[in-house]
Amino acid sequence: TTNRTFTMIKPDAVENGHIGAILEKISSAGFKIVAMKYTQLSIRDAQEFYSIHKERPFFGELVEFMTRGPIVAAILEKDNAVEDFRALIGATNPAEAAEGTIRKLFATDIAENAVHGSDSDENAAIEGSFHFSGREIY
Ligand code: CMP
Repeated sequence: TTNRTFTMIKPDAVENGHIGAILEKISSAGFKIVAMKYTQLSIRDAQEFYSIHKERPFFGELVEFMTRGPIVAAILEKDNAVEDFRALIGATNPAEAAEGTIRKLFATDIAENAVHGSDSDENAAIEGSFHFSGREIY
């Protein structure tokens, strides 16, 4: 069935000029963009968005990274969206990501890994509504 996932093109990929190439990979893989914005997270936004990781040793580094510049946030629609998008982006650590995946092509390292993808339908809905109101989804 058709469903949704949430993604961010992270500050490293924006800084490195990869927005267009990443959106092209997303479109070519059959995802329909139903919401999208160019924005920058505040420190409070990032702490809330990543609250599940707050006890991790890299939490401070993660918040600093995700707030250091603009991102592209988007909601994507496709059959089997969450799982298929995670396959398209590849492993968290680009050194372990499969050939042709977005992280293999565009990520720097395990922290600056170019893109976010929701890990479940439930989190996709939570993360999408963190960034978009109902009137911003088409
Ligand atoms: P993502 O899986 O989208 O969400 C959690 C993020 O934390 C992850 O991407 C990376 O950006 C970051 N992250 C994960 N593991 C590490 C790590 N070992 N060191 C630093 N950052 C990490």
